[in-house]
Amino acid sequence: MGVGCNRLAGIDNCCETEDSMAYQAMNFEKLLGTEGFSNQLLNNHFTLYNGYVTNTNKLMDELADLEKQGKAGNPQYAEMKRRFGWEFDGMRLHELYFGNMAKGGASLDPKSRLCAKIAEDFMSFDDWAKQFKAVGAMRGIGWVVLYFDPAGNKLINTWIGEHDTGHLAGAAPILIMDVFEHAFMVDYGLKRADYIEAFCKAIDWAAAAKRFDAVPR
Ligand SMILES: [Fe+2]
Repeated sequence: MGVGCNRLAGIDNCCETEDSMAYQAMNFEKLLGTEGFSNQLLNNHFTLYNGYVTNTNKLMDELADLEKQGKAGNPQYAEMKRRFGWEFDGMRLHELYFGNMAKGGASLDPKSRLCAKIAEDFMSFDDWAKQFKAVGAMRGIGWVVLYFDPAGNKLINTWIGEHDTGHLAGAAPILIMDVFEHAFMVDYGLKRADYIEAFCKAIDWAAAAKRFDAVPR
């Protein structure tokens, strides 16, 4: 049994034993062959994701060492602590992103709570999609996150700069789209809009609906 696990939104990449607190990289090879995504692009992306897992674990270990040495107040510790959220979010956002994709995609069940909530908050699914794509087309590197804020009972399409800027405190990530250039340039060059269309066809809406249903209200 793992310790210190994080099972938010169906993610379970926690440690395997009580002796190891390290995060384990998840395997998303089932996505190879997804229409609109070359295997070269996906394999490169999986490698990048693995780097975030490695660096998250490395930072945790190095921060713990400095704490043991009583050096938690020094500038090296402070800079590594600042860096930690960037690496962690890079790891987790990739897990959520690959986790809401499927070969062939999966449509949103019209009877699902998520479908009803999208219609309630965005007028229609098409209006939501138009806004989600527009946020994805914003200049810069980052992510689009469809967040659900349970405190305000609202779905919000959100721009995340890099991996760590703009997250909504207390909100739950429902659908994630990577718009870093590495997510599409191998296949689409600068045509980000074409990548966004391909991503939308590969969305696993069943996974997104499950995340929405799992949010504590
Ligand atoms: Fe990425």
